[in-house]
Amino acid sequence: MNIRPRLRAIADLVPHSQNIADIGTDHGYLPLYLLQWGRIPNAIAADVSAGSLKKASALIEQNNMSHVIETRLGNGLSVLSAGEVDTIVIAGMGGVLISEILQQGEKVARSASTLILQPMIGQEELRRWLIQNQYRIQDEDLVKESNRIYEIIVAVPDEEVKEYENEIYYEIGLSWITKKHPLLREWLEKKIRGLKDLIKGLEKGQIDVVAARLREAQEKLRQYEEVDSCHIK
Ligand SMILES: C[S@@+](CC[C@H](N)C(=O)[O-])C[C@H]1O[C@@H](n2cnc3c(N)ncnc32)[C@H](O)[C@@H]1O
Repeated sequence: MNIRPRLRAIADLVPHSQNIADIGTDHGYLPLYLLQWGRIPNAIAADVSAGSLKKASALIEQNNMSHVIETRLGNGLSVLSAGEVDTIVIAGMGGVLISEILQQGEKVARSASTLILQPMIGQEELRRWLIQNQYRIQDEDLVKESNRIYEIIVAVPDEEVKEYENEIYYEIGLSWITKKHPLLREWLEKKIRGLKDLIKGLEKGQIDVVAARLREAQEKLRQYEEVDSCHIK
């Protein structure tokens, strides 16, 4: 089975030979792909939606994988017990929802060795939540699919983790800078363009609220341009 680049990039981050749970599996593409390529011995594919899980079960059966992929219906991590899996994947949801799932299933989340998270929005909020809740961001990736760049975060429990001194790193993944990620320049340029457009729009307004928002956006633009010019030449 072939999967699209976003899911493929998530799959590439799953450590070999580990038991995984894919929370919010929808069609079940990710566990199926990992099993078919022999990357993992078995998997739990879970979803809160009975309709999604039905689709996943049908595809799993069709691919003769029912003996190694178990489907479970339920909310977030409530379908797992602590220590049951090494790796938890939560992909294709908002960052705030992902953090709520981790918060509600705290014992289970903390018992896993690796969390692979792919927030569609709310990436900053998720990074902040992870670090404030003793998870270290071990790795981050960017992947382009259909002209959109997606962010992936790999987090591990770590009680010693420290908050970032520079706030901008809750938005701009530090791992992308460290490993000079080939998509970082394009990702930054998109963000910088968005901020410039926002500033232009705000500059046309006159009221005080707009002025405060304008200063905020200008400061953010300065930080983005600093990262762009200092770190990825
Ligand atoms: C957009 S799909 C993403 C599917 C797949 N993970 C991916 O990245 O392509 C989101 C899936 O998450 C499921 N979902 C949403 N909230 C959930 C929750 N609290 N617990 C489990 N699954 C949830 C939805 O039913 C849906 O199937």
